[in-house]
Amino acid sequence: MELLKIENYKKSFGATEVLKGIGFSLGRGETLAIIGSSGSGKTTLLRCLNFLETPDEGRMYLGGKLLFDASGPRAGDAEIREKRLHFGLVFQNFNLFPQYTVFENLCLAPKLLATERPDYRQKKDVYLAEIEEKAAGLLEKVGLTAKRDAYPCSLSGGQQQRVAIARALANSPDILCFDEPTSALDPELTAEVLNVLRSLASENMTMIVVTHEMKFAAEVASRVIFMDEGVIAFDGASDEAFGENCPNERLKSFIGSIEK
Ligand SMILES: Nc1ncnc2c1ncn2[C@@H]1O[C@H](COP(=O)(O)OP(=O)(O)OP(=O)(O)O)[C@@H](O)[C@H]1O
Ligand SMILES: [Mg+2]
Repeated sequence: MELLKIENYKKSFGATEVLKGIGFSLGRGETLAIIGSSGSGKTTLLRCLNFLETPDEGRMYLGGKLLFDASGPRAGDAEIREKRLHFGLVFQNFNLFPQYTVFENLCLAPKLLATERPDYRQKKDVYLAEIEEKAAGLLEKVGLTAKRDAYPCSLSGGQQQRVAIARALANSPDILCFDEPTSALDPELTAEVLNVLRSLASENMTMIVVTHEMKFAAEVASRVIFMDEGVIAFDGASDEAFGENCPNERLKSFIGSIEK
């Protein structure tokens, strides 16, 4: 079933057109890898999906419902915050809050959100208990229960990234997006983070992963989008992208250049 559909996303920064009409759709439970050379617009696309940038043109549908239309009225801050909740985003550099413990990092946003519920005053204790229970479960899932009360600075990069993944999951997003989640990590820590992604994929979490890890893309992603200068130059099954008979010469040479 189709969960996300993007139509004709365009985004310019000044005179530079970075996204030149991006369109794709994503099924529920799919893992999509986005690959492409530096500057091709991958991060800009993820930021547009997560409402951190506003596309100049285009529409987004989620579960068949229109979630964004560049030609529609401009959404207010509260509306954008609400739309953003459909997406979780994990960055290259973890971006944990350094002044909070691991557990607090996970609970912070859900607790803030809970205060906006109309019955928060009456049900505060129930909501907080639910949030903490969920956070504890997520920490277990990423294998970091023992680090619950640690501060981010005392964790390895791989551990910090696993906390960041758990934190992104704490808001129960429909789609989890990753922007080169392992590029700041050495190979051993990369493996530990990719294992978390693998297990999320096997649980049918819908994911969009911008990555330079071709092996991961080939093994875990069901779909691959290859971006080239702001357009999608290839969109297809990962078997096709990484197979002997890859139909796209630029993609073939890109994969070859990375694997060298
Ligand atoms: N806020 C911005 N203001 C101006 N130009 C920007 C901005 N963000 C991105 N760009 C430009 O848009 C282009 C695409 O950048 P983007 O970060 O999306 O590429 P990328 O595919 O993620 O590259 P990389 O693999 O290096 O991360 C680049 O030329 C970049 O300089
Ligand atoms: Mg980028």
